[in-house]
Amino acid sequence: MIRWSAKFLMPLLAAPCLLAGACSKPTEEQASGGAPPPIPGPTPAADTPTAEPPIDPGVAATLREFAGALHDAAATIAGDSPRVARDRAGVRMSRHGAIIDAAAEVVEWTCVKPDDRAEAAGLGRISLAREVWARSFLSCFEFDRPFALWSNGSFAVLEIPARLRKGLEPRDYPYPVWHSSDLWRAWHTAVAIRFVLSGDTVVESQIVSADTAAASLPAAPQWDGRWTWADERGAAQPRAAQIAYVLSPDNPHVRPIDRAYQRLAEEFQTRGCLACHQPDNRAGTRAAHVLGSPALAVALRSKLVDALDSSGDDSTADSRCTLRTLAQGETAGELRRLLEQFRTECDHAFEYESIYIIRPEEYPDRPWRDQPASLPPP
Ligand code: HEC
Repeated sequence: MIRWSAKFLMPLLAAPCLLAGACSKPTEEQASGGAPPPIPGPTPAADTPTAEPPIDPGVAATLREFAGALHDAAATIAGDSPRVARDRAGVRMSRHGAIIDAAAEVVEWTCVKPDDRAEAAGLGRISLAREVWARSFLSCFEFDRPFALWSNGSFAVLEIPARLRKGLEPRDYPYPVWHSSDLWRAWHTAVAIRFVLSGDTVVESQIVSADTAAASLPAAPQWDGRWTWADERGAAQPRAAQIAYVLSPDNPHVRPIDRAYQRLAEEFQTRGCLACHQPDNRAGTRAAHVLGSPALAVALRSKLVDALDSSGDDSTADSRCTLRTLAQGETAGELRRLLEQFRTECDHAFEYESIYIIRPEEYPDRPWRDQPASLPPP
């Protein structure tokens, strides 16, 4: 593991672009390909100490690799339709060890303004399983160069110029971002994605939106109050919020996760959980914890089970949360089984991706070879 290190005391003077070759790259790239100019990082606030903690060279190297991987994974192959290009980018991103391994298991996603500090709550903050973050969210953007890297007190921040892909249809968004006109604007005026690290791990990514009040935006779809819907052929939409979208087609855990989720979704519906646990975050917590669509609920897989176990005491989440009602009533045993199944199948599914798909060469004795649906012995 790479950690902050006191050995590297070269002060990083609150300015972005001092590490990672990010200062030399702009000139090269602008000369060759006319890449857009670097996006400056936030102006330090008056109370910002001039000498921020240095960024560990190991972390900087990891981030260089991460930024390069995102840029390459997002690239569109000539002739690809917007939809194919996005799907291809999502597959590449979620299969790239340098991207997935850089992130915490749960990553928060939010929208900020260029001058916001790294800790800003931002707009539409939502928590995501990292695999969903890579496959369904990051893939909506195209990444450019050069990136900027700076330290903001206790956080390292990597900012990569980015813009929303053109031609996304409602079913391609990971959830209906048009439910809020501010959010729609933020996605469509993205100029960069900022990655905030705790130690050497990406814990958050922020859409950085240009302050372009007059920018002409594509017309937002009419918001009809539905977070999910079925298309004319009966397929669950948005497709980017489905388990099958997030995992590889041969992952044996897709159907078990879906089955467990469908049963849980009925319970979430009848028990009123979705009044608070949707992307509009009516409970008003710092981040939305979404239960209303399968891919977004994956981020809560462990917390649902943990909370069930501590449901007798007051440590469970927030007193407004009715989670503890799950542990009561006739169906409690069945619900526990389903919640555990949902968590376990998700964990196994991501392990499968990690072993079979992301780095098969490191696992010559692939444990699933003969038993596709089961886990290797501990
Ligand atoms: C009235 C609003 C409301 C309802 C209804 C509600 N919750 Fe919550 N829930 C909250 C709040 C507030 C939190 C605290 C979130 C935080 O601290 O970020 C929370 C947190 C949670 C968490 C995360 C716990 C943790 O450790 O962070 C889970 C899981 C959860 N709720 C599940 C449920 C389920 C399942 C239901 C339905 C049985 C439900 N909630 C109903 C408001 C609600």
